[in-house]
Amino acid sequence: MKRIGLLTSGGDCQALNATMRGVVKGLANACDELEVYGFLNGYKGLIYGDYRILDTREFSGILTKGGTILGSSRQPFKLMRVPDANGLDKVEAMKHTYHKLRLDCLVILGGNGTQKTANLLREEGLNVIHLPKTIDNDIYGTDMTFGFYSAVNIATEAIDCIHTTAASHNRVFIVEVMGHKVGWLTLYAGMAGGADIILLPEIPYDIDKVVEKINERSKAGKGFTILAVAEGAISKEDAALGKKELKKKMAADAQKYPCVSYKVAAEIQEKTGQEIRVTVPGHTQRGGSPCPYDRVLSTRYGAEAARAIMDADYGCMIGLVDGKMKRVPLGECAGKLKTVDPKSSIITEAKMTGISFGD
Ligand code: F6P
Repeated sequence: MKRIGLLTSGGDCQALNATMRGVVKGLANACDELEVYGFLNGYKGLIYGDYRILDTREFSGILTKGGTILGSSRQPFKLMRVPDANGLDKVEAMKHTYHKLRLDCLVILGGNGTQKTANLLREEGLNVIHLPKTIDNDIYGTDMTFGFYSAVNIATEAIDCIHTTAASHNRVFIVEVMGHKVGWLTLYAGMAGGADIILLPEIPYDIDKVVEKINERSKAGKGFTILAVAEGAISKEDAALGKKELKKKMAADAQKYPCVSYKVAAEIQEKTGQEIRVTVPGHTQRGGSPCPYDRVLSTRYGAEAARAIMDADYGCMIGLVDGKMKRVPLGECAGKLKTVDPKSSIITEAKMTGISFGD
């Protein structure tokens, strides 16, 4: 008999349902009896005891379904130790729900912040397993997060569509890609979509270099240029500022521009006099059905989580390392970020084919 809790926390993405399906199917086939408690809307459900007992049949037919059948919410890690508006101790409340339901394990699907709370619960003595979800692919300890490739597909499609119109109109186009503080999604979608310039948070850009590339293309008779700009892209000057000054500068920029791409567009326009158009696919990147790669990856993550539960091996994140499923101790990965290394071979190869990173 196994009694498990499931929750999905943070921004949603494709393949959350596919992953939970993998966990439940894996366990249902491995143990005689299984009880599944689904906490609603992320950690909120665990804090306030808001859950549903789920029949294993509810996990059939959801492999291809985007979003999360449990709902999700953002519960910042830094506020977990801060009592709620009614003075409730959230950590104690989560422990209470867990013990009241006599759970064997809590399976937590989420990104970096979610992982930090999962680690906190582990430190508080709960059995937890974390499954790495995010379109940003920024979770340390795993080569790949689920959701990433589905989002790459959507962002690439956006760039593909812009390509045909950019070519018809001889314009400079910017497609802004999500990814929070890291550039994985922009790098992959930019390369897959044939972007000419890719701006990442990890490689601060020099606007003169960006303009140089645009001019070089114009001189070569290429009337259009496509930029894939990460939402966290930053200029060299801004990257050189101290923390306080940067915060001030960013607040001032936020008054002027809806997001970083409009700033880059204004800078290019000022220097070239060219017409620039900005496209922001935004949350479409997290939506829809998971791509086949993510369906396979999530099924593997789910099955390995089931295996770990059968082994009573808790306190870990299931990661993909060198093509294999690995149980990574939460204490080793929580609180760390996986960023793009500007010196990595993928960046060199992109540069070899003519892509400019504005550096
Ligand atoms: O972490 C996933 C993500 O989509 C990031 O790429 C983005 O910065 C953020 O979430 C957006 O968050 P929200 O949905 O809260 O606007």
